[in-house]
Amino acid sequence: MSTKSRERLNAPILVTGGAGFIGSNFVLEWLGAGNGPVVNLDKLTYAGNPENLASVQESPEYTFVHGDICDAALVKQIIEQHRPRAVVHFAAESHVDRSILGPEAFLRTNIDGTFTLLQAARAFYGTLEGEEKERFRFLHVSTDEVYGTLEPEDPAFHEETPYAPNSPYAASKASSDHLVRAWVHTYGLPAIITNCSNNYGPYQFPEKLIPLMIANAGKGKPLPVYGDGQQVRDWLYVADHCRALMAVLERGRVGETYNVGGGNQRSNLEVVTTLCALLDELAPESPVKPHSQLITYVADRPGHDRRYAIDARKLEGELKWSAQESFETGLRKTVEWYLANAAWVESVTSGAYQNWVKQNYGSRESVAGEGSR
Ligand code: NAD
Ligand code: DAU
Repeated sequence: MSTKSRERLNAPILVTGGAGFIGSNFVLEWLGAGNGPVVNLDKLTYAGNPENLASVQESPEYTFVHGDICDAALVKQIIEQHRPRAVVHFAAESHVDRSILGPEAFLRTNIDGTFTLLQAARAFYGTLEGEEKERFRFLHVSTDEVYGTLEPEDPAFHEETPYAPNSPYAASKASSDHLVRAWVHTYGLPAIITNCSNNYGPYQFPEKLIPLMIANAGKGKPLPVYGDGQQVRDWLYVADHCRALMAVLERGRVGETYNVGGGNQRSNLEVVTTLCALLDELAPESPVKPHSQLITYVADRPGHDRRYAIDARKLEGELKWSAQESFETGLRKTVEWYLANAAWVESVTSGAYQNWVKQNYGSRESVAGEGSR
């Protein structure tokens, strides 16, 4: 084999949004496992934090590019320069409440950004030959929210469940999934879609339920539960999601969708009370204890989906993936991580984050008795 062919087979993967929550966990796992070089394209919005990747910053296997996935010229240049063997596409606006207050950025990044990447990947794929062409993949990381909401007795979402997105965020992700599907069917791009349930774990921005509750509890601030707190989510520890993505990248079938979930359905109130009990044990210095005293019912999220649940049997059966963390072990690890990384929480929640808290929670006065409905 020539040197050129060998170099090409050691090509990097191009990760988008690798400085965010799931992306940074994925990059750390990928490099930690010695899977080969990574190029990370990230715009560093409020949700992206290069500190998450400080431990690999100096690695010759890691390249960071600060930029926008909507910038077609930049995306083309990166792909032509690095000749990735796969694109793993995480970059997105990801918070439902923000999509309700300002949907524009969601349509731009999630739809236009995905379109831009697909076009660049398609043009590049068209130039490939032989083994390079054979192994090229576009992995689109998506969400279970595209399927809409479930009644208490409904079966879990499976890969054939019709799309019925309810929030601007979910609609933008559903649109991007449809684009990916069309690029497979029309242009033969070797793409795969994953639809995952709620992740939790290290480096999650404290606007999302679990890290927000840990951060507020530590400061003796109210724990804002939307509506009656009986909405159900299906929780998955982030490292299990990353392992699923690696399995899909390695062994998934082109053109397929794989649902990813941990089989951990919990109501929001159960999640918050479990967190409070863990914090009573692990953070005895907190100003207010027991932490459950801080639970405060506030006005509900508009259009709030009642229940998500994932049927992951296709992924488990075909690709032999299974979650390694239970909700109990994963949540304990997560609380321990946030307690040990208070400086990280402080650094990401200074400045603009405070405006977000005012914007989202300022108008949600506490609603007495909401929880007893
Ligand atoms: P996140 O908000 O923590 O991170 C998003 C990252 O994308 C940030 O680093 C941000 O700077 C970057 N980004 C945003 N706009 C960009 C742009 N225009 N160009 C380049 N980079 C940009 O998100 P997350 O929770 O890590 O989610 C990652 C992906 O996984 C998203 O596509 C999301 O829809 C999907 N997903 C998330 C969950 C979850 O529970 N968090 C579950 C299922 C699927
Ligand atoms: O299902 C996968 C999705 O999970 C991902 O696609 C999204 O990117 C991710 O943000 C997440 O969406 P959710 O809306 O389910 O996550 P969030 O953490 O915002 O909220 C979880 C539940 O907790 C939801 O029912 C709303 C509720 N909640 C949330 C916050 C921030 C509260 O009760 N209080 C809060 O302050």
